[in-house]
Amino acid sequence: MELPVVALMAAAFLAISSGIEAASRPGGELYIRPSPRKTLWLPWRPRHSSYPQQVHISLAGENHIRISWITHDDSSPSVVDYGTAPGEYTSSSSIGETTSYFYLLYDSGKIHHVVIGPLEPDTVYYYRCGGQGREFHLKTPPAKFPITFAVAGDLGQTGWTATTLDHIGQCEYDIHLLPGDLAYADYMQHLWDSFGELVEPYASSRPWMVTEGNHEKESILLFKAGFQAYNARWRMPYEQSGSPSNLFYSFEVAGVHIIMLGSYTDYDVYSDQHAWLKADLAKVDRAKTPWLLVLLHAPWYNSNYAHQGEGDRMMAAMEPLLYAAGVDLVLAGHVHAYERSERVYNAGLNSCGAVHITIGDGGNREGLAQRFHQPKPEWSVFREASFGHGELKIVNETHAHWSWHRNDDDEAVKSDEVWINSLVSSACFAKRMPELRNILMTP
Ligand SMILES: [Fe+2]
Repeated sequence: MELPVVALMAAAFLAISSGIEAASRPGGELYIRPSPRKTLWLPWRPRHSSYPQQVHISLAGENHIRISWITHDDSSPSVVDYGTAPGEYTSSSSIGETTSYFYLLYDSGKIHHVVIGPLEPDTVYYYRCGGQGREFHLKTPPAKFPITFAVAGDLGQTGWTATTLDHIGQCEYDIHLLPGDLAYADYMQHLWDSFGELVEPYASSRPWMVTEGNHEKESILLFKAGFQAYNARWRMPYEQSGSPSNLFYSFEVAGVHIIMLGSYTDYDVYSDQHAWLKADLAKVDRAKTPWLLVLLHAPWYNSNYAHQGEGDRMMAAMEPLLYAAGVDLVLAGHVHAYERSERVYNAGLNSCGAVHITIGDGGNREGLAQRFHQPKPEWSVFREASFGHGELKIVNETHAHWSWHRNDDDEAVKSDEVWINSLVSSACFAKRMPELRNILMTP
């Protein structure tokens, strides 16, 4: 259907005058971007205080999974029963830890983190938390290629969040990667609980590997240091990678080494994070993990007006290390829009640099970042302010397929896709990388 000419002219004038980039659907129809949706309010359901709530899982070292949940009964046991058939729990684990926190007048309840394993790869397990309640199931990631990651940052908990999660749930994926900004609780701790309930159907069945965004900080001057709720609730496997902090870590799965950086903890050349990153990159064995990925929150390559330049200092401190190591792909959030770059380094095109993708468009209550700088920088391939999610299927040592799926009228529509070749298979890695790796080895 064609829109009236006057409406098209008005839309074009608005787009030009405000810097908003016009988008079109297949067939040339003008795409009217959706407005923000309100925060979801989940109905209160009376439950026994020992009933497991907000169940989510994460990778916890080779062939191990961490099961996390919350109860409001301190005597509730931290045990997970599990097996490969429904209702038949042939194994049990109580290995792990519990924690809790107070935040002003809020009491978190008992937060359980139990590690199960060793588990078989690419296998469905059925499990129950605390010896009672519902049975959940999970699928472990494969041990080798292919492997598929779902990616969505800046989720929040609105109607658009629910749509994004629904679309992710409809695709076949092994792990959810989240580059920061989870609940948008912003000091209101009960919103961490409602977010945990909202994501439970997805996060209890596939590992969610997250890094922190600015909305996780929740610091109060002279009173709260920050990341208290995030660190207590979203426990990631930092010890296994030699990191001193839950705010930055790495893990390996099926031939992929993935580094989760922290945009809101120190990253300068004298920082713990910088020293850890350098050591972690130096240890990467590309024969074992041909693909090298990085996630962080504030993007380094961003042509949107929103959060312009916020990643510059981190980029100046850390991009030379990523370039020296031959990082294939950097996934960021923070900007509520989608943007994909060419391979870049030092603010320009570089065939031996990383592809940068901003995917902070999960659906939070703040809405979309609609204004892009004009003209489009030469490094920017595709950019659009719409809610959606990404899927990264790493097919083998040399080829990966990336696609971005726009939430169009509550349907997932594939709007951008590209095949990416690994740097390991490129001439730059063979010729230049040994020399560049010396940068990583020098103290
Ligand atoms: Fe953010």
